[in-house]
Amino acid sequence: MGMVAGLIGEREAEARTMKVIMADRYGPLEGLAGREIQRPDVGEGEVLVRVRAAGLNIADVFGVRGSPFPIRLASGLTRPKYGVPGHDLAGVVEAVGAGVTGFKPGDEVFGEGRGTCAEYAVADPDRLALRPAGTTPEHAAAMVMAGLAALHGLRDAARLQAGQKVLINGASGGVGSFAVQIAKAMGAEVTGVTSTANAELVRSLGADHVIDYHREDFTRSAARYDVILDNVENRSLSDVRRVLAPRGVLVLNSGTGASGLSLLVRLVWPIVRSLVSQQKMRRFLSTPARADLEALARLAEEGKLRSAIDRAYLLAETADALRHVATGHARGKVVVAI
Ligand SMILES: NC(=O)c1ccc[n+]([C@@H]2O[C@H](COP(=O)([O-])OP(=O)(O)OC[C@H]3O[C@@H](n4cnc5c(N)ncnc54)[C@H](OP(=O)(O)O)[C@@H]3O)[C@@H](O)[C@H]2O)c1
Repeated sequence: MGMVAGLIGEREAEARTMKVIMADRYGPLEGLAGREIQRPDVGEGEVLVRVRAAGLNIADVFGVRGSPFPIRLASGLTRPKYGVPGHDLAGVVEAVGAGVTGFKPGDEVFGEGRGTCAEYAVADPDRLALRPAGTTPEHAAAMVMAGLAALHGLRDAARLQAGQKVLINGASGGVGSFAVQIAKAMGAEVTGVTSTANAELVRSLGADHVIDYHREDFTRSAARYDVILDNVENRSLSDVRRVLAPRGVLVLNSGTGASGLSLLVRLVWPIVRSLVSQQKMRRFLSTPARADLEALARLAEEGKLRSAIDRAYLLAETADALRHVATGHARGKVVVAI
């Protein structure tokens, strides 16, 4: 009897564990390893999701490295508070905490969770929505951070209008591949800047014009754009402003390559310059909200938005997947299937 009870207890304990990829310290991606840890408890106002796919972003690489330093303000100053990478997820609701309305166990969802390179992750229900019909978990997970950044950059920061000319620098990456499609869905004329190898992908996403940066310098073009979404920020602000219409908006969406004084200039100068110029330069911080996830889901269901997936990795290959993201040359999105 005692032995049977012992075995049942062991099985129950096993059932409450989960496979994750994690690191206890900040450092290189090589420090990530597979582990079996306790499943997170679902707290009041939280949802526990059985993760089926995690979408990866450069923010996840920064989170593992603990660099650039400001990332630690959210993830833990000296060591990661929860060393499992991943924010984007798609999966099935396993349990809901007290006070959660709108989701129930069994719902297929996508959105943001904590540590999604795992079999289970806790999520804030305000940052989840129902997975769009006709999408796989991989495609839905891929959409979250990058799709929302594209939506927030074009709709909110740029206030893009139908009929406007928009240029997207870095059009084949995570944010860019969604931005091309969202700008088209909003009725804009879209020019995408990308490398030779990715020109066809950008065209297939609906871009009206593609500039191959190996052959042509977009800042020397005769065209003037009402909106420029710059996901790369590899050119000086004055170079980029040359092709911005007199009342155009330049949305700066990277800055990660700059450091020290040049980073300060890229952060402060756009604000100062926008005070005295008709041309505006804006930065934005994209945070997930259910209504915006639903907006992406609607576009996906209408056939206007799809995730361009570069490659799906297995959970055990998460470090390789993050290394690919870190190159800054993924074609569309990198995901982990769990
Ligand atoms: N504001 C926010 O809240 C927010 C949210 C999410 C992301 N972001 C930021 O958005 C940026 C882009 O993220 P992502 O996920 O799209 O990155 P990504 O997937 O790595 O894409 C990078 C893109 O840059 C292109 N690229 C690289 N070198 C280039 C060059 N010399 N000229 C033109 N294009 C070049 C790549 O194209 P090729 O491979 O063809 O070179 C690729 O399309 C990151 O800096 C990220 O931190 C901001």
